Amino acid sequence: MPGAQRKNMIQFESKPPPLDSVHSCSKKVIPIRVLILRDYQSLSERAAHVVAETVRANPWAVLGLATGSTPLGLYRELVRMAQEGRVDFSRVTTFNLDEYYPIKKENPQSYYYYMRQNFWEPAGIAPGSYHIPNGDPADVAAECRRYERKIKDAGGIDLQILGIGVNGHIGFNEPAEKLQAETHLVQLSEDTIIANSRFFEKAEDVPRHALTMGMGTIMKARRILLLASGESKAEAIRDTVKGSVTTMVPASLLQLHPRVTVMVDREAAKYLLG
Ligand code: F6R
Repeated sequence: MPGAQRKNMIQFESKPPPLDSVHSCSKKVIPIRVLILRDYQSLSERAAHVVAETVRANPWAVLGLATGSTPLGLYRELVRMAQEGRVDFSRVTTFNLDEYYPIKKENPQSYYYYMRQNFWEPAGIAPGSYHIPNGDPADVAAECRRYERKIKDAGGIDLQILGIGVNGHIGFNEPAEKLQAETHLVQLSEDTIIANSRFFEKAEDVPRHALTMGMGTIMKARRILLLASGESKAEAIRDTVKGSVTTMVPASLLQLHPRVTVMVDREAAKYLLG
């Protein structure tokens, strides 16, 4: 059904876990599949199901991973599945989207620390198989080149998990007139610094910079799963799925990717319906 395939599709699936109903929204060049789930727990379970299926189909899969609050439920579900023997992560390779700069990996605020605690170790990812940009490199440009090379050497990313910023950023590709293709050092926007300050005791402790995969790195992933929960993400999700493709909403570039699923809870879907 090529006509229908050219439309953005909002789908509510029944299993697992249950969704609400089926909708469609504005016409785009490439359809973004949008799954609306009842709540954050259902969203996390559904996302875990996709990741687990990917790894069951290909135990050597290369996964792209995100940090922040959104994927915590996904990681909790995946760890539970791994510990119950329902999925085996021992042969996967993972690459994280980003890391603060400058930050040492031992710092509990680092994304390295977050990943080790919430996913890599409890899920049983083999040491040496997980990768994240070094937030404290002697040479930033060399570190960015090294990270890109590592991803290429691994054969590229099979499934990339994304969160989304309130301003539409993915990874830390912030809204701008020009976006960068490869891993690079970025200055975080005020919106992002304010959003991230909830993880820090003092606002002045929030890092102002990060190393992030570029838009090209993300767009080369063979499949992309973007997760969003809560009303604060509703506008960014609307602009991503129904808006113009613009560098001022970096996630809107996902409309140009052939295999993207956006998974949202009802609050984040607020402006998609009707
Ligand atoms: C984190 C990342 C960011 C976050 C985004 C949303 O690795 O790449 O794009 O996904 O800032 O963060 P949360 O989930 O905390 O709202």
